[in-house]
Amino acid sequence: MPASQTMETTVGCYGARHQWRRKVNRILKVIAKDSSLLGRIARKTVTSIPGISRSVTLQERLVLGSMPRIYYSYCAARAANLAFSLGYKEVSILEFGVAGGNGLVALEAIKEIIERYLPIKIRLFGFDIGSGLPMAVDYRDLPYHWQSGFYEMDVKLLRSRLKTAELVLGPISETIPTFISRPNVDAPIGMISFDLDYYSSTVDAFRIFRIDLAAILPRVMCYMDDVIGTTECYSDFTGERLAIAEFNQQNTARKISPCYDFEDFAIERWQQKIMIYHDFTHPLYNRYVGNPSTDAQIPLSR
Ligand SMILES: C[S@@+](CC[C@H](N)C(=O)[O-])C[C@H]1O[C@@H](n2cnc3c(N)ncnc32)[C@H](O)[C@@H]1O
Repeated sequence: MPASQTMETTVGCYGARHQWRRKVNRILKVIAKDSSLLGRIARKTVTSIPGISRSVTLQERLVLGSMPRIYYSYCAARAANLAFSLGYKEVSILEFGVAGGNGLVALEAIKEIIERYLPIKIRLFGFDIGSGLPMAVDYRDLPYHWQSGFYEMDVKLLRSRLKTAELVLGPISETIPTFISRPNVDAPIGMISFDLDYYSSTVDAFRIFRIDLAAILPRVMCYMDDVIGTTECYSDFTGERLAIAEFNQQNTARKISPCYDFEDFAIERWQQKIMIYHDFTHPLYNRYVGNPSTDAQIPLSR
């Protein structure tokens, strides 16, 4: 077969594949945003089609909900992306409140997936007292809902399951000061899960934001587990919500804000638990991290 013919066939084949992929992209975009039952079914179905599931991007996997613990995956992927855009080779993810360890094990699976898509290494840390919830300090810890000793960890079992995540055991009022006294500037913090249940523990956990600025990204993806619930009677005057409100009152240039970046997603409840910590004084806060080749023009439509 002449070389030119081979080329033509290859180009034709590539062109057809390219067109097919563009059509698929358009369909994926539509079903990703569809909040109806049909949309949910379509998302599940489409990601189980081998030809599609093999070729989806990380962003597509996120919008289609085809990742473990989507709320952790979303935060972790955004943290990894920001760290990469800012030139880092590593990023740290912290889970405050580990209990049996399901969250940390999920984070290990998420790390493996993200590291396949992005040239960045993820370091994982799980902080917990180990012996279950400590004593509630007062009504702000919702003792009518939680009791000390709940969620005790089987440390040996969890350690045997973890591959790379580090367990940091002890009350966070003690472990966080030690952790921030040894800041790792090569792997700045990019995501934190706050799942400590109590107001008092969450206030202690916010001490993490006192870490050297070189060891934390200017924006940190935060998962706030205890801001919406079922029977907890969460309020703006107790629990995690109060801790966040007080943090924002006490700080003018550092704020914890809800995340409003879900326009490409179907509306789902977990999105209400995603917040972003902003440090407006961080030396990298204003560094452009977009893509000028796609973001810099809005051409006039024909
Ligand atoms: C609801 S559980 C965490 C569940 C876990 N994130 C998951 O996804 O499975 C809350 C955990 O916070 C821990 N915790 C609460 N206050 C703490 C404190 N002051 N210091 C350390 N750990 C604390 C408790 O020991 C408990 O295991």
